[in-house]
Amino acid sequence: MKEPIKVLFVCLGNICRSPTAHAVFQQIVNAQELGSKIQVDSAGTGDWHLGHAPDARSTATAAERGYDLSDLRSRLVTSADFTQFDYIIAMDTSNLSNLQVMRPSEFSGELELFLNYTAKERYSDYTEVPDPYLGGADGFELVLDMIEDASLGLLNHIKAHIQQSDMAGG
Ligand code: 4NP
Repeated sequence: MKEPIKVLFVCLGNICRSPTAHAVFQQIVNAQELGSKIQVDSAGTGDWHLGHAPDARSTATAAERGYDLSDLRSRLVTSADFTQFDYIIAMDTSNLSNLQVMRPSEFSGELELFLNYTAKERYSDYTEVPDPYLGGADGFELVLDMIEDASLGLLNHIKAHIQQSDMAGG
């Protein structure tokens, strides 16, 4: 797989879950000094919040754990993203089915639910990162817990691919 490897997180509004995943995953990538090998972005399937900063509740919940969402702005996912990105990661099954409809036949990357990469049994009752938009503060904490866990799992998965491809000579 050619580097940099590109990872796109997708949710509905691109103001709660996927920008949180974007910032958390980016921070873990930076901490492991993989910023030159892995690029991160996020997008939404719905257009209500285009150009808007993330939801204040997501920004505040993430800031309490040291993640900065302030520079991110909502954008729509497009079919062109399938030619750019190697990993397209959906937060829930509705996002995933919308993406499956857009997926060009030549896309050879991974299109997966984010929670498929969780490392811990603790989220085994969940298949998706639940939409927190209409709920309370607990929902935003749960979303962040899940995203931290799945980000570590996804990064380990990608690192294993990088190593395999290094061993195969590129
Ligand atoms: P997100 O949450 O998909 O995690 O960004 C939502 C944000 C906005 C809306 C729905 C979900 N909305 O309907 O406006």
